[in-house]
Amino acid sequence: MVDTVGTRPEAGRRRPRTGTLTRRQPVQRLVGEAAGSPLKRTMGVAQLTLLSVGATLGTGIFVVLGQAVPEAGPAIVVSFVLAGVTALFSALSYAELAGMIPGSGSSYSYAYATLGELVAWVCGWCLILEYGVSVAAVAVGWGQYVNELLELTFGVTLPASLSAPPGAGGTLNIPAALIVVLAMVVLLRGARESAVANTVMVSVKIAALVLFCAVAFTAFRAGNFHPLFPLGAAGMSAGAASLFFSYIGFDAASTAGEEARDPQRDLPRAIILSLVLVTALYVLVAVAALGAMPWKQFAGTEATLSEVLVRSVGGGNLWPVLLSVGAVVATTSVVLTVQYGQIRILFAMARDGLVPPLFAKVHPRTGVPRANTVIVSGFIAVLAALVPLGSLADATSIGTLFAFMLVNLAVVLLRRRSPGTPRSFRVPFSPVTPLLGVGFCVYMLGSLGAGTWIAFGAWMAAGLVVYGLYGNRHSKLNQPEDLV
Ligand code: ALA
Repeated sequence: MVDTVGTRPEAGRRRPRTGTLTRRQPVQRLVGEAAGSPLKRTMGVAQLTLLSVGATLGTGIFVVLGQAVPEAGPAIVVSFVLAGVTALFSALSYAELAGMIPGSGSSYSYAYATLGELVAWVCGWCLILEYGVSVAAVAVGWGQYVNELLELTFGVTLPASLSAPPGAGGTLNIPAALIVVLAMVVLLRGARESAVANTVMVSVKIAALVLFCAVAFTAFRAGNFHPLFPLGAAGMSAGAASLFFSYIGFDAASTAGEEARDPQRDLPRAIILSLVLVTALYVLVAVAALGAMPWKQFAGTEATLSEVLVRSVGGGNLWPVLLSVGAVVATTSVVLTVQYGQIRILFAMARDGLVPPLFAKVHPRTGVPRANTVIVSGFIAVLAALVPLGSLADATSIGTLFAFMLVNLAVVLLRRRSPGTPRSFRVPFSPVTPLLGVGFCVYMLGSLGAGTWIAFGAWMAAGLVVYGLYGNRHSKLNQPEDLV
């Protein structure tokens, strides 16, 4: 029923005439694999939405907002909307493809069905930046918030030697590694247990942001918004580029297709709903923050949300403590959900033969890919303990934008190649909308610095070596009986 592509002879039975680098997974096969997945289906639309919100609301709103205000002035509110619209174009494309190919591989699987194996590999390699590396970066942030909280509440901090990596004044960043290990323990218990933990944490972080707004609005001054564009349109769009980071993660539900009860119906809803929710919250927080504190006061300080309240409302330690708790909980749920996503993406890649089969082995009782969870978590914990990850936020952005660009292209290609495949959600005005999505991604990619591009090139070169040595040879599409 689901599968009109599969029953179409041109997609279902003929051997592809393409070379090994451009061979594609038939949509039918991806849908079939997802349907017969050994993972447990426990998540409904609410948990899926909260998975995406969990992966999205984090450092961006609690910290990066304050740093981006001096770039745009009060127009930072508009910057948030612009970054949200940029994300929306890609979110629509994710929604269409997640409803059509409801597996756990996210954009990697969409690229495999449309742009061929090599591009899919490149996409999967980019997703390691969006997911694996970003978890390590967020874990480092988590350690900083915990230290802040310890100082505010007990007047103590962890010594630098134990809370910073070599090269940044320490030996090991123990707190950063610790949160990754704690997330691993929760993830090993099962998807349902992880979703429950995430639901609690998302509620706490939303409550913290709502509390921030309620308090900040008591000091609201409309005059803070005049003039709205002190740094012009250029400032506003620079602000949007910085804030794009805060939207990364809305696609996380697309890594849970095989643990969703009704993925075709619920994945598109969860992706769009989470983005709408997050955008509304971001704009509200930005209006509250700028209304409470004149934009010029954000410059040259670490204007976190708690500092905005201390300066504009007073209240001593109360707000910093409450908002630090919010930030600790927020980053915990980003670590949990993004680590989950990385594990599920590798699971899909292992099933296709592009990474070793160990990553696709599922524990019979918990329904969790256990070895995968332990290896990925171990790798991220080491990264978090040893590497100063500041500049890797840019690496996360470049990897994400690349993956988003491919997803938008995949929508256009699949509309042409498989027009009859059922789609539970359709991007309106395709191909214009997805092509605008590509355009926005290219624009954002252009605003990243040369250093980021060089690092990205090196990462991709390493990826191609791994693909040449392993993935290309072990691909399931390399085995004659699997060629369709
Ligand atoms: N969107 C995530 C955050 O802001 C990456 O922390």
